[in-house]
Amino acid sequence: MIKKPQLNNKPVKPDNSNLIPIANFENVILGRQRVREMMNSLGFSLLDQTRIVTAVSELARNIVVHAGGCGEMIISAIEKNNKKGIECIFKDQGKGIADVNMALQKGFSTSNSLGLGLSGAKNLCQEFEINSVVGKGTQVTIREWVKR
Ligand SMILES: Nc1ncnc2c1ncn2[C@@H]1O[C@H](COP(=O)(O)OP(=O)(O)OP(=O)(O)O)[C@@H](O)[C@H]1O
Ligand SMILES: [Mg+2]
Repeated sequence: MIKKPQLNNKPVKPDNSNLIPIANFENVILGRQRVREMMNSLGFSLLDQTRIVTAVSELARNIVVHAGGCGEMIISAIEKNNKKGIECIFKDQGKGIADVNMALQKGFSTSNSLGLGLSGAKNLCQEFEINSVVGKGTQVTIREWVKR
């Protein structure tokens, strides 16, 4: 079957979805590997792969550390205006973040850590969205497009 190029602005339905439960640090490593594989097959440079995998690592790690490993990541190949990209959604049912802006400040940590994961991830990706509800959980979406 030949696919028509997408000319609208909406990302096409992901044709290559991948859901990885994130319960522990081994799952984080698997998530990193899957993202690298998909980015490689989409034509991202090694440098881009490493940059995004670093962000992925921090966001998945936060699910283990701050949400008790009660979450998952979903990796999808996306397309917009004939550009290929990757989208990673990090979803958890943890305690949520009371003040997202504060959590995004460099150096803010509730676990005596460096507090660089969230802000670092935001700076490393072309697109970054975060939603969190206290007592319900957190969802972070990142997107990266292959450079032409
Ligand atoms: N998924 C999450 N669920 C609940 N709280 C979170 C989540 N992710 C981040 N946070 C909150 O945001 C703060 C900042 O996150 P960030 O990743 O920047 O720092 P950290 O995880 O504490 O330290 P580092 O990542 O540098 O080791 C965390 O300390 C935590 O309070
Ligand atoms: Mg962190």
